[in-house]
Amino acid sequence: GALAAAPAAAQQYPTRPISIVVPFAAGGPTDTVSRLVAEVMGRDLGQNVVVENVGGAGGTLGANRVAQARPDGYTLLLHHIGMATTPALYRRLPYDPVNGFEPIGLITEVPMTLIARPDFPANTLAEAVAVMRQRRDQLNYANAGIGAASHLCGLLLMSRIEAAMTTVPFRGTGPAMQEILGGRVDLMCDQTTNTTEQIRARAVKVFAVTTRERVSALPDVPTAAEAGLQGLEVTIWHGLYAPRGTPAPVIQRLSQALQAALRDQRLITRFNELGTAPVAQDQATPAAHRAFWLAEIEKWRPLIQAAGQYAD
Ligand code: MLT
Repeated sequence: GALAAAPAAAQQYPTRPISIVVPFAAGGPTDTVSRLVAEVMGRDLGQNVVVENVGGAGGTLGANRVAQARPDGYTLLLHHIGMATTPALYRRLPYDPVNGFEPIGLITEVPMTLIARPDFPANTLAEAVAVMRQRRDQLNYANAGIGAASHLCGLLLMSRIEAAMTTVPFRGTGPAMQEILGGRVDLMCDQTTNTTEQIRARAVKVFAVTTRERVSALPDVPTAAEAGLQGLEVTIWHGLYAPRGTPAPVIQRLSQALQAALRDQRLITRFNELGTAPVAQDQATPAAHRAFWLAEIEKWRPLIQAAGQYAD
């Protein structure tokens, strides 16, 4: 019967290509991390690991796709801090945002940068905050929907400066970056995995990083605190998930492949170039990921509720 089959399939897993659903558009930071991880995991697993972009609704459409998928290890989700903020941001979701998934392991924690279109009329964070306060009704802030990292950073920013700007949602901050570069949208808070190269090329303006310490890949960019704005501290952790009910041997095999990927020198070098680094090996386990994830849900709930009037 089916039960007898499960252990056999689980023991031989994987026997065919695996899909990693990225809940944002191609070309953005989540996609960038996912493609780097998928390639190396595939080598360890001996199967193609294919990235599938399912954008929309701040990442909840892609998360729902995986929550509803067969729990056989062939449909996975690579998502970020949105897995901890959506329970507070969404009153109703078509899936259980916590019990619908099996954590496999954490991957990386990425700093954010507050950037603007190249001709934005400010050169420092203080000047930019003054412009945001004065022209809040004319300015557009790009994000990747409610539940995105760019949304969360925007929530913290707008509540700290007490100025709500118009937000323009995209299916990912890859497409949003094109609008910033083209000067059609004014501001965005986005991860260094998407902004480092544009900042180095001076193709956008940058005002601060959202980390306690400066980012070594962007040594000249001040932290928000250094630049005079307290409370804009957020880093975007990413993890890998399978649908609830995926057999334990499959979860364990995927965690092994993830840990192997995070030891790959080319991946480490690329993460470093983009302002980030893999998590320590003991964080790329199901237990460590679950503990961190549950703690993050509790951490962000009050902060989101306090900033709530700035939510879209
Ligand atoms: C986000 O803002 O959540 C991400 O940057 C979206 C993306 O990866 O495109």
